[in-house]
Amino acid sequence: MNRGHRRPESRYSFWVTRLLRFAVTVSAAGLVSCSMSQKPAPPPSHRLDVHSFAQPHLVAVKHVELDLTVDFDRKVMHGWAELAVVRHDTSAPLIVDTRDLKIGLVETAAGEKGELVKTNFMVGKADPILGAALTIPLTGEANRVRIHYSTSPGATALQWLDPAQTAGKKRPFLFTQSQAIHARSWIPLQDSPGVRTTYRARIHTPKDLIALMSARRDFRLADPKEQPNGEYTFRMPHRIPSYLIALAVGDLSYQYLGYRTGVWAEPGVAEKAAKEFEDTERMIQAAEKLYGPYAWLKYELLVLPPSFPFGGMENPLLTFATPTIIAGDKSLVSLVSHELAHSWSGNLVTNATWSDFWLNEGFTVYVERRIQEVVYGEARARMEAVLGRQELESELATLPEKDQLLYIDLKGRDPDDGVTAVAYEKGALFLLALEQAFGRERLDEWMLSYFGNFRFQSITTVEFRKYLEQNLLSKDKEAAAKVPIDEWLYKPGIPASAPKPVSEAFTPVDEAVKSFGTGRSVASTRDWNTQQWLHFLRAFPPALGRAKMAALDGAYTFTKSKNSEILSQWLLMSVRNGYEPAYPTMEEFLTSVGRRKFLKPLYEELVKTPEGRKRAEAIYEKARPGYHPIASSTIDRILARK
Ligand code: BES
Ligand code: ZN
Repeated sequence: MNRGHRRPESRYSFWVTRLLRFAVTVSAAGLVSCSMSQKPAPPPSHRLDVHSFAQPHLVAVKHVELDLTVDFDRKVMHGWAELAVVRHDTSAPLIVDTRDLKIGLVETAAGEKGELVKTNFMVGKADPILGAALTIPLTGEANRVRIHYSTSPGATALQWLDPAQTAGKKRPFLFTQSQAIHARSWIPLQDSPGVRTTYRARIHTPKDLIALMSARRDFRLADPKEQPNGEYTFRMPHRIPSYLIALAVGDLSYQYLGYRTGVWAEPGVAEKAAKEFEDTERMIQAAEKLYGPYAWLKYELLVLPPSFPFGGMENPLLTFATPTIIAGDKSLVSLVSHELAHSWSGNLVTNATWSDFWLNEGFTVYVERRIQEVVYGEARARMEAVLGRQELESELATLPEKDQLLYIDLKGRDPDDGVTAVAYEKGALFLLALEQAFGRERLDEWMLSYFGNFRFQSITTVEFRKYLEQNLLSKDKEAAAKVPIDEWLYKPGIPASAPKPVSEAFTPVDEAVKSFGTGRSVASTRDWNTQQWLHFLRAFPPALGRAKMAALDGAYTFTKSKNSEILSQWLLMSVRNGYEPAYPTMEEFLTSVGRRKFLKPLYEELVKTPEGRKRAEAIYEKARPGYHPIASSTIDRILARK
């Protein structure tokens, strides 16, 4: 071997290796795109989202630009979405999620000023749960993709209301519900909560209607010169997951609540909504004191028509809410505390996959109760916690073991099926267990750091677990030993050591239940609040019999209750006991309210008997056109229509 001959060669290969390494580091950091295609490592399995076709580790959308026209006559939206992408693998195409979208033209461009050029695209086979992948090849330096499309009238995120379904009865209404995987039915995008983007939008509507989105709006109705004109623009400067993109269009009016808070609703509804929600600023301050500054600038509520399928939806800057929480006495405003709490848990720190949904909802219910405690007192928060644990126990009794874990396997399933009291109430109870083991002060401190550390990020249960270990559990082994963390996360049921919230305010209620119908006198019920009445009704055994139902109704006129929670509980008992005097009210309720939480148990109870099923079918026939697709697909399944 000739040494003199080898040396220049090895020096040459040394530099080649250095150069290659440099290129790989730079491209992995996403700084430049490397023309030598280097496949980035796939994400760890806990970060894989089984509910999206997107491959964000190869090509990731960072910003969404929308230009959409709302066509009430055809019940479609049409226009374009432009996606700005970062290409980690330059040989990979962009893959986005769609459902029932009609794709017209697709164009790509390189750089902000680059010219848009028509390109090929491919729509994959539609999956009944996931919709269809849209694949767009990217060549050269392309990093902008403009997709021209229109939605279909059956888009699962959209509800188009005829004037008759609104409070004002004169103008139509449209709203979206993107969570969990419905954004793809109105925008082609990477519809995974693990992908975050900023967005901007231009929305064209009929001239006299107002459009609102979950973003900063570029118009101020406080200014009399700013009349609605059918052209609205919005900006979301923070990176958010796709399920938080929301739009509503209707005849809306605004009520100022505070310098950063307000309520939108149809003109006839706005005033009483403003009264009901007047404590909103105090709620924000309570949350800020515990968990750090409110990050979104403004907090507004939009009260939707009664067909809204949920109690509330935490769309950033603009919570969507059902009108059924306007009870007149603020007794159901824990929903506002809840949606507001999502401004930290959920919107700042987001579940990376729908299997981690408890990270959103469990934290939020815990935070909701902390807010309630500050604003409405400890007694109220405790009552709500007791009701929560009861709800959890009764739902656990109906769930298969695999759905009783905080972290649930949703492969092959619709993530909407994972929405049970487990994520909400078992999740909140878990955090309460940590609070009791470590003390409030230390849990508060840990949670403040958790929200700070993962701000504007999407994380998994594994990542939560690690952060908890490093920043709380390892600091106090004795306290940590009291909380069986992995049993909470990965085992069914409720750990034996779980806290059992109690409420003194329920003692007289329990007594009244015991003595009801015995002729014994009980303390006055005159000052009972909604939570006490709910506890009262839920404490009776399921089979009460018609006579006792009639006696209860005679004494307390539940059939006439104007409180949606009390009424829905009473109607459920009425179906169970065949209490016919409540049936006309039930029919009225089922045909005017679309909140799934109320509909689902009532229909489920009705179909248990042959004549109940008949009644359910007759009511549903009338009610179905008024329900949101998300609600009607649930009820379709209960009535086995599909
Ligand atoms: N984000 C949820 C609503 C949701 C969850 C929509 C999953 C779609 C899929 C919202 O914050 C929520 O939890 N709403 C509850 C109210 C709450 C007070 C428990 C509801 O709608 O009942
Ligand atoms: Zn929630």
